[in-house]
Amino acid sequence: AAPAAPAASDDAQRPRVPAAYMRLATAVACHRDAARFALLYRALFRLTHGEPYLLELAADPDVARLRALEQAVRRDVHKLHAFVRFRRVEGEGGGERYVAWYRPDHRIVRLGAPFFERRFPSMAWSILTPDESAHWDGAELRYGPGLPRDAAPREDELEELFRTYYRAIYNPARVNLRAMRAEMPVKHWSTLPELSVMSELVRDAASRVDAMQAGRSGAASAAEAYVPGSRALPVLREAAASCQACALCERATQTVFGEGPADAALMLVGEQPGDEEDLCGRPFVGPAGRVLDEALAGAGLSRGGIYVTNAVKHFKWEPRGERRLHARPVGPEIQACRAWLQAEVEAVRPRVIVCLGATAARSFLGGRFSVTQSRGQVFKTPWAESWMATYHPAALLRMPDEAARAAARAHFQADLAQAASLLAGEEHGSR
Ligand code: URA
Ligand code: SF4
Repeated sequence: AAPAAPAASDDAQRPRVPAAYMRLATAVACHRDAARFALLYRALFRLTHGEPYLLELAADPDVARLRALEQAVRRDVHKLHAFVRFRRVEGEGGGERYVAWYRPDHRIVRLGAPFFERRFPSMAWSILTPDESAHWDGAELRYGPGLPRDAAPREDELEELFRTYYRAIYNPARVNLRAMRAEMPVKHWSTLPELSVMSELVRDAASRVDAMQAGRSGAASAAEAYVPGSRALPVLREAAASCQACALCERATQTVFGEGPADAALMLVGEQPGDEEDLCGRPFVGPAGRVLDEALAGAGLSRGGIYVTNAVKHFKWEPRGERRLHARPVGPEIQACRAWLQAEVEAVRPRVIVCLGATAARSFLGGRFSVTQSRGQVFKTPWAESWMATYHPAALLRMPDEAARAAARAHFQADLAQAASLLAGEEHGSR
């Protein structure tokens, strides 16, 4: 809806629309509530006719309603991000494509799809929904027509559904609705809407990811409700400062967010801040940090060029006399905080990720992870071209047996050296 523009086209006289309104409207417009545009229009009119601070009046009925619609849309976007499950499909041209079917509550495909572009930049994928469908080919995000509401395929029907869709909309001639209906295996197509938008062609980019879903745990991360849409590190850091997605925030001093260059090629992921980190608000500045710095130096790496963070952002501790004793975060806490780590990965897009300890590895993979068994192995993953895990530096400090400690230190050093060589672009074997 165009703002109520005055007759004069003079810029100075044109009403100014605050950026906050634009953000709000972008979300609210995706809601299915039929009254959304009337509401948006009324708020815009009021904003530009003597109530410039309207949006700050949370108790105003229009504002309250708009915020509720916005919330519903944002929750729906989070759900899309959390619940979409891709299935690998052989592409027409011999390449492969990951395809998902999803039925969102609101019209959020365009709000939600860019997230997958950041998460899976090097694969070809499609998300099919009743409203419209999103397609990424490694270079450009495109949108095509949606599928019938009741198309909802079972997992093993998805491939066939996609092929039919593909043939119909990627046909250079024209969308052939009748052919599409005829070819569909099931009654689903009875409600096929008019495909009013002629989809652009999607090139069949061949790309591969070994660990597409690499054991991702299915549950949503509680922190998602706090993670903003932006992938600018300062924005994320500021939002994380007020995260209350799990109980760990109650006893810790502050959120300890990651730090390092936004374009770092290497990301190190620890477990959670320790006592000193909690007090000064920066990762790995205590005893474990000193072990880490020493080993990095030995591998020819320096902290300054690395993005360093933790799987869990608040210090978990138990009182022990005067001291605050480190306590291991449990699965649900790792899961709750996972959305922050994922956002950092999306912001930095490192080429190499090194998990320090099993907690970090579990944040990515879910479930259990044995550092002793799997340390030093390099995996190609959706998060980074090279992903590996090694010891946690604090574990090295704790090992009572001197020989074991020396061996573990040597392994730790060797793993970091391998990360350094991956960064330098040397060949590596996925052992
Ligand atoms: N241990 C961690 O895992 N992270 C820190 O930041 C400090 C100690
Ligand atoms: Fe949020 Fe993570 Fe802190 Fe829990 S530990 S409150 S999820 S930042």
